[in-house]
Amino acid sequence: KHVAVIFGGWSAEREVSLSSGVECIKALREKGYQVTEIDATRDLAAQLAAIDPKPDVVFNALHGRWGEDGAVQGLLEIMGLPYTHSGVRASSIAMDKMSAKAIFAEYDIPCARHVWVSRDEIANGTALPPPYVLKPNNEGSSVGVEIVLTAEEEQNMLAREWTHGDGVMQEEFIPGREMTLAVKDGKAMEIIEILTGNHAFYDFESKYVAGGSEHIIPADIPDDLRAKLQDCAEKAYRALGCRGIARADFRYDPAQDRVAILEINTQPGMTPTSLVPDAARYDGFSFADIVSWMVEDASC
Ligand code: DAL
Ligand code: MG
Repeated sequence: KHVAVIFGGWSAEREVSLSSGVECIKALREKGYQVTEIDATRDLAAQLAAIDPKPDVVFNALHGRWGEDGAVQGLLEIMGLPYTHSGVRASSIAMDKMSAKAIFAEYDIPCARHVWVSRDEIANGTALPPPYVLKPNNEGSSVGVEIVLTAEEEQNMLAREWTHGDGVMQEEFIPGREMTLAVKDGKAMEIIEILTGNHAFYDFESKYVAGGSEHIIPADIPDDLRAKLQDCAEKAYRALGCRGIARADFRYDPAQDRVAILEINTQPGMTPTSLVPDAARYDGFSFADIVSWMVEDASC
């Protein structure tokens, strides 16, 4: 099979995507696929149309806006090229964290509380009180995420330059443990607990610097919590209509025995420090096995 790998792109997660792309290209060649590499630009339509012969499948290794939000998926649908991961609708809803959470709530999947706020609303006390997290609604890899734990941190944050434009998602901070799990073709994989050591949270550096975090798989948790997380992840995958592999991220507060889904990632990282490759290995699939599974599962 001839596979065109689209990676890089021009989102804030370009570097992450370059890393995912390089790993996937290596794996596909190892499995004997013919590979065309495409560092995606705004001329992606022309880049794809110029591939001769036409690829059988497009492997989407893009992350973030344009690559993960339904835009590229729509282009591939129109071009009639089968592609990996989720389709237009699931991609666009998942990338818009507030929309995704509205749907999760409809399906009784527990979420952290959130509101959309301006700087003024935080300054005049009409927003959620600390502890909270400020998150751009449509970025990944923790780009632009700020954690505000105390009133003092809030004052410091307000004293700095405001970088969130007209508004930002303000989400209740859930203390406790960080859990994630991939869902493959509708079935939950094993749960990974992420230990971030001396990082306050699972930020960009702890995600992508080797040794920046520790992945515990299987997570050391009781069976009922495992079942609950897996059930929530499968429900969330179904609620958005995801396809192929997606990864659901959770917080777990042991003090309140409370689970909250943060989001679903429809283009989960495939870098050397990413989580899905670990989950696959736990199930006995090598990195190359899981990448070729994605190719064989592609459609449009
Ligand atoms: N947004 C990054 C790539 C992830 O979720 O893995
Ligand atoms: Mg994300």
